[in-house]
Amino acid sequence: MKNFTVIGGSASEDLAKKIAKKINAKYLKSDLRVFPDGEGKITINGKPKKGKIIVVQSTYPPVDSNLIRSFALVSKAKQYSSNVTAVIPYLGYARQDREFLAGEIISIKVIAKIFKALGVSKIIIVDIHSKIALNLFNLPVKNVSAVPQLVRYLKKLKLNNVLVVSPDQGGIQRAKEFAKLFGTNYVSLKKQRNRKTGKVQIKSSNLHQVKGKNLILVDDMISTGGSIIKATEFLKKQKCKKVFVACTHALLRTDAEKKIRKAGVSKIVSANTIPGNTAVVDVSEIIAKAIV
Ligand code: R5P
Repeated sequence: MKNFTVIGGSASEDLAKKIAKKINAKYLKSDLRVFPDGEGKITINGKPKKGKIIVVQSTYPPVDSNLIRSFALVSKAKQYSSNVTAVIPYLGYARQDREFLAGEIISIKVIAKIFKALGVSKIIIVDIHSKIALNLFNLPVKNVSAVPQLVRYLKKLKLNNVLVVSPDQGGIQRAKEFAKLFGTNYVSLKKQRNRKTGKVQIKSSNLHQVKGKNLILVDDMISTGGSIIKATEFLKKQKCKKVFVACTHALLRTDAEKKIRKAGVSKIVSANTIPGNTAVVDVSEIIAKAIV
């Protein structure tokens, strides 16, 4: 696109470059300097073209810092163009979409209000955690799914006798979509999370279907790894064959990757919404399609 400029935030430089290439847009890098007190100072390298600007910045940890940086980039972009799209490959805070316990703040609603106040024309997100959160934005939001790309990658592993598993009931639709594209069946576990401690328990009873099967655990995100670890331990007890994990956003906090492998997972596959060891699936193509 001749009149498009993509600005890459520090959290999504590589992905932003790929998107710019796909849509044939000018690419502008941004430089980030973090002061000793933690404040960040951003400089956009060069001038955007006259026309639409796309700001690409994920909000993985440090979540609040990367979020503020997204606001700052968008605000600067608005000085150059009235048409600014914010691409937020991984949007944090989407789990805080309702008041689960009295007094809790629906933080995603606050974030939505800020983007609106900044004058963003459109937001593009990859696999937002909650569809409820989507409805809290008072501006056009497009949520794109990385599931087809994840399936494409997992298919290349040429696994046989595969069953797709959702670690919880909330992920059933995702597992169903994954299984349909993969050409196999799916089951779902019953997970219970203590809202105060965050601890996870699998409440399913025996699942004979998984015996001897290669399993693909499908989730939107892995944070501490608690959900995947508990699910894997349960599935191994049911005498499954190998366990693979496909997720969009691999946050993998506090040694999660090591712990997940220790629990018996053979491979973790994730998208480049969050850069890292496991981010082997590129989502630039689906984002590019949502932009044009
Ligand atoms: C929960 O509903 C999500 O889909 C993930 O399963 C969850 O957020 C993962 O978190 P953790 O890795 O800390 O269990």
